[in-house]
Amino acid sequence: MMAFISDRRRSRTSVLLIALGSTILSARADMIVTDGMQPWETCAECHGLDGISVMARFPKLAGQRFGYIAKQVRDIRAGRRRNDGGQMAAIAGEIDDNDLAKSAAYFAGLPPPPPDPSLATDSEDWRRGAALYRDGDAVSGIASCGSCHDDAEPNRPDAPLLKAQHAGYLAKQLRDWRSGERHNDLSQTMPAVAAKLSDRDISALATFLASQPRLGPNGAPAQ
Ligand code: HEC
Ligand code: HEC
Repeated sequence: MMAFISDRRRSRTSVLLIALGSTILSARADMIVTDGMQPWETCAECHGLDGISVMARFPKLAGQRFGYIAKQVRDIRAGRRRNDGGQMAAIAGEIDDNDLAKSAAYFAGLPPPPPDPSLATDSEDWRRGAALYRDGDAVSGIASCGSCHDDAEPNRPDAPLLKAQHAGYLAKQLRDWRSGERHNDLSQTMPAVAAKLSDRDISALATFLASQPRLGPNGAPAQ
């Protein structure tokens, strides 16, 4: 999994990808004729038309909450969220509130992604992730993730669905909350939660979460 690549190699790789990503994007923004296209079709280049992106660096949006999707794009547009490696900045700057609402509704309404079947659900890491998610850890002061995310639905509409997300994406977000690179949680919960997580906890949580089915709009898990 991505989390196992050494930090130094990772950051060099992502600088490269960022440079590459923004060049491609700025070239495209001028060249592509978007008249007559649905606003979410440009999003689909990275996030997939079915909202189930192939690459872990693009989060899956299918079945994600409408309000969360809209908030993240607004945060990126306003510069409150900057941990996307500059890849969302150009498109977020161009989309108006009306097209954003349409795109968020489109992705939120898609069937949720299936869990990642390649992850071993009997590993020690997975079991630790499952326990942390459900109960937290009183000794290290780690809050139960499930008290706000996924299973807490609909008590915390501001908390995104995490299950069936790419493990690599989840782990990166937790590291970004911990390092302060991502700081757009209005409730200020996530920086405090992530500060208590070790690298091993992060990898365990990401593995567990990616292996779990996401709840569908009617509260039933996707197959
Ligand atoms: C060039 C690729 C690209 C395009 C096009 C793109 N995105 Fe993204 N998007 C990303 C990347 C990369 C991230 C963040 C990765 C990170 O934080 O590590 C992201 C993050 C997001 C997030 C945050 C998801 C979460 O779980 O926190 C949302 C919501 C989102 N994009 C919606 C959109 C919408 C809506 C559009 C179209 C208007 C769009 N994106 C177009 C690459 C793209
Ligand atoms: C008290 C509520 C609360 C608890 C407890 C909590 N979270 Fe969160 N979490 C949030 C909120 C709210 C956000 C969205 C912040 C924003 O608007 O960007 C979030 C965002 C996230 C994200 C970003 C997801 C994405 O799609 O980008 C991850 C990953 C995450 N939390 C993981 C965890 C894990 C793992 C735990 C347990 C160790 C946990 N959270 C505990 C409220 C909580």
